[in-house]
Amino acid sequence: MDENKTHRGIVVEDRVPANAGLTVDDKATIRTKSRYNRIAPVYDWMEAIVERSAFRRWREMLWAQVDVDGNRVMEVGAGTGKNLPHYPRGVQVTAVDLSDRMLERARRRARELDIAVDLSLMDAQRLAFPDAVFDAAVATFVFCSVPDPVLGLRELARVLRPGGRVILLEHVRVNKPVISKVMDLLDPLVVRLMGPHINRRTVENVKKAGLEIERVEELTSGGLVKFIIARTGHEPIGG
Ligand SMILES: C[S@@+](CC[C@H](N)C(=O)[O-])C[C@H]1O[C@@H](n2cnc3c(N)ncnc32)[C@H](O)[C@@H]1O
Repeated sequence: MDENKTHRGIVVEDRVPANAGLTVDDKATIRTKSRYNRIAPVYDWMEAIVERSAFRRWREMLWAQVDVDGNRVMEVGAGTGKNLPHYPRGVQVTAVDLSDRMLERARRRARELDIAVDLSLMDAQRLAFPDAVFDAAVATFVFCSVPDPVLGLRELARVLRPGGRVILLEHVRVNKPVISKVMDLLDPLVVRLMGPHINRRTVENVKKAGLEIERVEELTSGGLVKFIIARTGHEPIGG
């Protein structure tokens, strides 16, 4: 019986691939999903000012890195689809998110903008794709929210071809003694109210996931927002 769905020729597997023996915290994942389902109706509105003043420009910068990379791209944590207008022409994007309510909005945006993209409900920590099927993976402000970011990043590495790039925009824990302590203190409250962690060490998490850092750029003073490019090694990860 072959009931596997396909995304532009990429088979979505029924069986969840083993993630190098690591297990997903299901309770934390369900909590994350409910938080994003809850804020989905107001998410774009909440971010409108920062989107106009900075995020939009950074998204353009990020996607400008993608079209040189081959044309099978995965976007993880696509949210309400704010990256859709920035997808380069000719690039096939397969986008996933954990929250069905965020995805509903992304689907609506794709229809309104007439952009062809495969949008699926999927957990970054257990992607239902075979190994080495994408040329690049992109995420913007996502690994602050994925319950186990290292697991999610390992999954991105697994589905990328050897030498494929992971390209991220992330807000992270700043490297300043007092401010970072305040971030640690406020983190549980922000997570509860809005979803993301404000004290993730994402560059370190990328390294822990076995990816090789190619470039890290600080987009704000104090390094609160970082543009990170990493590469898989030449041998498949997690095999
Ligand atoms: C802060 S929003 C960012 C959305 C979008 N990337 C953007 O730039 O506006 C974080 C997104 O990550 C998604 N997310 C969190 N954990 C996830 C997971 N384990 N797998 C897939 N998506 C996840 C959330 O549902 C949410 O849509």
